[in-house]
This record gives sequence, structure tokens and C-alpha cells, in this order.
Amino acid sequence: MAEFTLPKNSKVKTGKTINAANDAKNKKTFKVYRYDPDTGENPTLDTYIIDRDKCGPMVLDAIIYIKDQVDPTLTFRRSCREGICGSCAMNIDGKNTLACLKAIDDTKGDIKIYPLPHMPVVKDLVPDLNHVYAQYATIEPWMKTKSSAPSKERLQAPEDADLLNGDDGHGPAACILCFCCSTSCPSYWWNADRFMGPAVLLQAYRWIADTRDEATGERLDQLEDPFRLYRCHTIMNCTNTCPKGLNPAKAIAEIKKLMVARKA
Ligand code: SF4
Ligand code: SF4
Ligand code: FES
Repeated sequence: MAEFTLPKNSKVKTGKTINAANDAKNKKTFKVYRYDPDTGENPTLDTYIIDRDKCGPMVLDAIIYIKDQVDPTLTFRRSCREGICGSCAMNIDGKNTLACLKAIDDTKGDIKIYPLPHMPVVKDLVPDLNHVYAQYATIEPWMKTKSSAPSKERLQAPEDADLLNGDDGHGPAACILCFCCSTSCPSYWWNADRFMGPAVLLQAYRWIADTRDEATGERLDQLEDPFRLYRCHTIMNCTNTCPKGLNPAKAIAEIKKLMVARKA
């Protein structure tokens, strides 16, 4: 009979507790996933109690405060702290999001922070993105043209640019490649080796929809595969979780429609 237990070394144990708030009036507790492959130890969930009056309003501010003032061993990625770079993607209270866009005021009780799910963990909150970036490279995310280059830039009509930017700024060109969507997609969890996942497919659509690009046929050929595209079962987790309010599920549906249209 199949055994559905996790390997012993993957079980998350209760870790240390550091109370850095003493008798502060405005305390908040953060429970943070910790994993250091160099120790050979199991991952732990460490508890940090901090004085909210000493840090900024966002979850990222709290994590930076913890690293700077409480525990310098905590490891995570961040850069812009403006929701632009996509580096601080993590799972906060069960939802993939950007720590810099998640207000502490929008949480209740203790905040639980894990790395993006179903990715190998490099350390603590840092997932290994090599595989998703290798998949991203396969869609050749740059403009491909066959016609000779114009003397000035290739212009687009505003309605063509809307296909990329969206008339509300939430089109595929606004994707910051944070991978919150792909790591929330059950199909991607089980088939990440062959399914491209919503982030990469949204990016593929960004080039397919670009009226200046002249490789639409090849791009569709590259995705015409039972796994690469068609493992999307329209579960919509991707769109529900995107911290930038984009709609990767719709982009995937648009690619499927183009596949059907070119066969008709
Ligand atoms: S809509 Fe498709 S890509 Fe998005 S979560 Fe569902 S299966 Fe994954
Ligand atoms: S679609 Fe949204 S969640 Fe997915 S990678 Fe782009 S910005 Fe991140
Ligand atoms: S730090 Fe750049 S998106 Fe959060």
C-alpha cells in the first residue's frame, strides 16, 4: 500500500523563539520558515516577536527589521520594495504574494511566512528559480522580426499597445516575473518538468500578442504540446493570487483560442 508520509528530513520542526519586543505596547509575532542546507538539519518555524512601532508598515519592513536588529541569519530576497522587481515573493498566511505590498495591518494574529511553495529551497525564504528561468528562456522572450528594420522605432497603434499593457495597466506586459502564480498552480506543482506554468505562458502570450513581433506561428508551434500549454485546467489559482492584479489564466485561454483558430 502506498505510503503518503513526508521524508523525515522535510518535516518542519518548531524552532527558536526570540522576543525582541520586551514590554512594547504594539507587539506582533512572525513565524518564519528557516532552512539551512549546510547544517543537514530539518527546516524549522522560528518565532520572532517584535515591536511594530520600530518597523515600517509592510511585512517586508518587518522581515528587514528582524534581519537588521534581531537575527542576521535570516535570508530572503528583496530589492525595490515597490512591487516592481518581484524579488520578495513569498507565501504569507497561506497566500503567495509580495512581502513589500502586504500590509501588516491586513493580517490577523501571528503572521506565518514560508518560501513560495513547491520549489526547491536554497535557504530560508529563497526559492531556487533556475528551473522557471530555464523555462522562460524557451519561449524566447524578445522581439523576433523578419522584415527589414525601419529607420526609426517600430511604432504601435494605441489599441495594439493595449493588448500588451491592458487598457487598465494590467495587461501581460505588467508581469514582474515574481512566480507567485506558477507556484500556486496545482498543475504546475505536479508537472513543473513539462508544463510551462502560468507566469511563463503569460510571458509567451505577451510576445504572441505583440503586433510588432513576426514569429507568432513559431511561438504557437513551440507551445503546441499536451504538457507545455494544455496542462492548464483553468483552475484560476494563478489569477486569484497575482499580487499585480494580472490575469494569467485569461492569457492562457487566449493562446488556446489562437491554437484553435489557426486549425480552423
Ligand atoms: S488557470 Fe491554469 S495556469 Fe492558472 S492555476 Fe489554473 S491550471 Fe494553473
Ligand atoms: S502574472 Fe502576476 S503572479 Fe504571475 S509572475 Fe506575473 S506578476 Fe507574478
Ligand atoms: S522588493 Fe521588489 S517586489 Fe517586493
